[in-house]
Amino acid sequence: MLEVCDLRRHFVVRHNPLARFRHPDHLIRAIDGVSFTVAAGEVLGIIGESGSGKTTLARTVLRLCEPTAGSVRYRGRDVFALSAPDLKQYRREVQPVFQDADSTLDPRQHVGAILEEPLLIHRLGNTTERHSRIAAMLEQVNLSPSFMERHPSELSGGQRQRVAMARSLLLNPEMLIADEPTSGLDPLVATQVLALMLRLKREHGLSLVLISHDLATVAYASDRIAVMYRGRVVELAGGDSFSEQAAHPYTRFLLGIEARLPDFPLLEGVHEHTHEADQGCSYVLACPHHLHRCHHAIPTLRETSPGHFTACHGVG
Ligand SMILES: Nc1ncnc2c1ncn2[C@@H]1O[C@H](COP(=O)(O)OP(=O)(O)O)[C@@H](O)[C@H]1O
Ligand SMILES: [Mg+2]
Repeated sequence: MLEVCDLRRHFVVRHNPLARFRHPDHLIRAIDGVSFTVAAGEVLGIIGESGSGKTTLARTVLRLCEPTAGSVRYRGRDVFALSAPDLKQYRREVQPVFQDADSTLDPRQHVGAILEEPLLIHRLGNTTERHSRIAAMLEQVNLSPSFMERHPSELSGGQRQRVAMARSLLLNPEMLIADEPTSGLDPLVATQVLALMLRLKREHGLSLVLISHDLATVAYASDRIAVMYRGRVVELAGGDSFSEQAAHPYTRFLLGIEARLPDFPLLEGVHEHTHEADQGCSYVLACPHHLHRCHHAIPTLRETSPGHFTACHGVG
């Protein structure tokens, strides 16, 4: 249903002229050649630490930012070449659920108005129809229709995230792209929100791209899992065999199977990309097994066991 092919998004960070002598402009390869597909009804989990490019990937797929290179196809059509009406339809079928619903729900509006907005934009139903559709959707996310009168500030974090989910589902989408939908919530609430999301996904027959920095969240929910490290997918495998067959040293680090070396630091969240990391494996400096060629050749995803893809020179 969704095909992402060799997608890249680079940012140029310019320093002010006085600082440039010591800090030359540099390029951040936020996503650097990412490919994957999502089938109808599938949950694809994307896991990676902070700064690995997950949000940039989600925003690019949603066409909220333009790619530097590569393509995204939805139902066979190039997302970046859609005409305005087709883009509107794409935005209806592929809905985001963002992290931290506080900042995406307008605090001045009550929940009823927040939920009515997408229906108004897409001119769906008259006032009574919209009202009953919103009430029904609130019940689906386990909130009573009385929540329509409340403001986001009167809700708990879990309730806000459920309102955000209701908003995403109101337009009957085909696919949700959820970027850290449960981070910032208490563990118990996070589990409930995730379980609700999976139930709604099943009931509505949706596909789901579930992005998280938390392996447990992704492992629990996903049919397949993609592991991102510094802008690249380093491993992609089925959720059931994922932990037993993990082959990439970074995935094995995430699973607590092996250690990693102290890598070069992230400066204020910005990667000081070294020449080496741009030419070779993104994990080379942290990898306890790195080989000579890991510094010079970017490993591509190869099928290292049936249905299991690993981007590592050291995996046979
Ligand atoms: N608008 C931007 N300008 C410059 N750098 C950016 C911008 N957005 C993201 N980045 C950089 O891209 C990298 C990936 O960020 P992000 O996609 O937010 O990662 P994640 O969601 O995995 O934490 C980071 O190094 C971040 O600083
Ligand atoms: Mg993010």
